[in-house]
Amino acid sequence: MAQIRLLPNVFVPMPVTLVGCTLKGRANFMAAGWVCRVNAEPPWIGVGIARSRATPAGILAHGAFSICFPRPEHLVKTDYCGIVSGREHDKSAVFTVFEGELADAPLIAEASVNLQCELVQTVDGPTNHFFIGEIKAAYADPDCLTDGYPDPGKCGFLLHTLPDSSYYAFGPRLGDAGRIGEALRPRS
Ligand SMILES: Cc1cc2nc3c(=O)[nH]c(=O)nc-3n(C[C@H](O)[C@H](O)[C@H](O)COP(=O)(O)O)c2cc1C
Repeated sequence: MAQIRLLPNVFVPMPVTLVGCTLKGRANFMAAGWVCRVNAEPPWIGVGIARSRATPAGILAHGAFSICFPRPEHLVKTDYCGIVSGREHDKSAVFTVFEGELADAPLIAEASVNLQCELVQTVDGPTNHFFIGEIKAAYADPDCLTDGYPDPGKCGFLLHTLPDSSYYAFGPRLGDAGRIGEALRPRS
C-alpha cells in the first residue's frame, strides 16, 4: 500500500477522560486525552498535561490525581472542563463530586469508571508534564460492569481525535484480542 511522508507532529486517537485534582482547596477537572497505562504491577497510569494548565499545580501540591471516564450524555460538561481553566473558573460543581478513599483525587458520580492515583513519578517534557500515578482505588457504576470489570459495551467510552479535534463514540467489538492472530501462527 502506498504511504506518504507526514510532518512528525501526528496524533493518535485518544480516550476522553477528566483528570481531577484539588486546586485552591476545591475539586478541579480538566479534559485529558493523553492517557495510558504505563506499568502492569503495581498498576501505573500516566497522563500528559501541558505546563500551561492549572492542573499541574494541584497534582504537584498534593501528590494525587484522579482519572474519570465521562459518558456521551456528559459531553458538553466534559468539553467545558476542557476549555475553561480552574485558574479563573470554579469547575467543582460541574459534576457531582465524591471523595473516595484517597485524598485530593476527586471523583465524579456520573462517570462510568473513576480511578484514584497517587503520584509516583513526573517526567518533564519541554511543554508537558507526564504524571505517572499508581492506581490506589477504582470505582465504577455497577451498571457498567460485567463479571466485576468495566465492560466497554456498557461504559459509553468516548474518543478524541486531533488535529480535527472531534469526539467519537466507541465502536463495535471486532474480535478477541490476543487470540484471533493465532490463525497466522506457523504450525510445526
Ligand atoms: C477533548 C479534550 C482533550 C484534552 N486533552 C488534554 C490533554 O491530554 N492534556 C492537556 O494538557 N490538555 C488537554 N486538553 C485541554 C485542557 O483540558 C484545557 O486546557 C483545560 O481548560 C485545562 O484546565 P485547567 O487549567 O483547569 O487545568 C483537552 C481538551 C479537550 C477538550
